[in-house]
Amino acid sequence: MKNLDRWSAADIPDLTGKRAIVTGATSGLGLVMATELAAHGATVTLAARNATKAETAKELILSAHPKARLDVALVDVASLKSVRSFATTWLAKNKKLDILVNNAGVMAVPKRQLTEDGFELQFGTNHLGAFALTLLLLPALRKTPGARVVAVASNAHRPSSIAFDDLMREKKYTAWGAYGQSKLANLLFTRELQRRFVAAKVDAIAVAGHPGWASTNLVASGPMKDRGPFAQWLARLGSHLGSQSAEQGALPMLYVATAEGVAGNDYYGPHGTSELKGYPVPARRVPAALSDDDAKRLWNASEALTAITSPI
Ligand SMILES: NC(=O)c1ccc[n+]([C@@H]2O[C@H](COP(=O)([O-])OP(=O)(O)OC[C@H]3O[C@@H](n4cnc5c(N)ncnc54)[C@H](OP(=O)(O)O)[C@@H]3O)[C@@H](O)[C@H]2O)c1
Repeated sequence: MKNLDRWSAADIPDLTGKRAIVTGATSGLGLVMATELAAHGATVTLAARNATKAETAKELILSAHPKARLDVALVDVASLKSVRSFATTWLAKNKKLDILVNNAGVMAVPKRQLTEDGFELQFGTNHLGAFALTLLLLPALRKTPGARVVAVASNAHRPSSIAFDDLMREKKYTAWGAYGQSKLANLLFTRELQRRFVAAKVDAIAVAGHPGWASTNLVASGPMKDRGPFAQWLARLGSHLGSQSAEQGALPMLYVATAEGVAGNDYYGPHGTSELKGYPVPARRVPAALSDDDAKRLWNASEALTAITSPI
């Protein structure tokens, strides 16, 4: 597919005056997205679960962009208590929110693990954390004309399904099955959020992107988590050799987060073979990601699980 004339970070418009939050901004795609949004003038909250890593990320961005407007805020998206606390504090300090990037995620954790709320770790982190954060930040999103909520999805959504009778994968857990479910959930969440924005006449859009295969810490912190430093180093090397850079991988999300002409429910990914590498183009969604019924069903289940009722 033709790429968008090789849209790159240099094409990000001036974001001066805009307020952004990037979750999981300490490494990989989140760090790149926070850097680029700040480099183009946005005031960016680095939302991270690890204070030391977050301060390091802030210093790294400032060393490259001394005028960057950044703040650090702690949030563990795998904890509803932490998400609530972050959202409450953030809303007390900020009236508007132009760009929310729900990026924080974990991938293919070998053994089934639970969050402190009792959710399967990948569903709890990658979907329910993003769901809860977005709903709790809706007061600011609603007050900001043209606000955008960005999901970071994955090609891994394609072979997946939502196990509505076993969302927490108690009956059958596979590392990739649970990951794929969470990434399919990101797309269904985007779909239903966009439908609700339109129905409630909220001047905001829900959009999604995926990075293809990008060199980040995702493999070392997920499938290789308990394997020891050497195996993790090998995994990083293998991932690095086969993949594109995090800078390139972040482009589809930066495109939907900032470019002109992006519409609600747009989904972008890399233009190359199997959407693994390249410049942003409209990405392929499998039919399971296009189901309005499943999108509504997932929304209702997510409200029940998080005990957060949607105001729209
Ligand atoms: N890399 C790829 O090829 C690829 C492909 C498709 C989709 N994605 C998606 O891209 C997103 C970013 O991943 P990445 O590739 O950039 O990997 P990464 O380098 O491992 O970054 C993941 C980020 O998420 C943070 N995080 C994880 N759990 C968290 C939690 N409970 N609360 C707050 N932050 C948390 C991590 O924080 P710590 O530093 O504290 O661990 C880190 O900042 C994920 O949603 C992933 O599913 C990546």
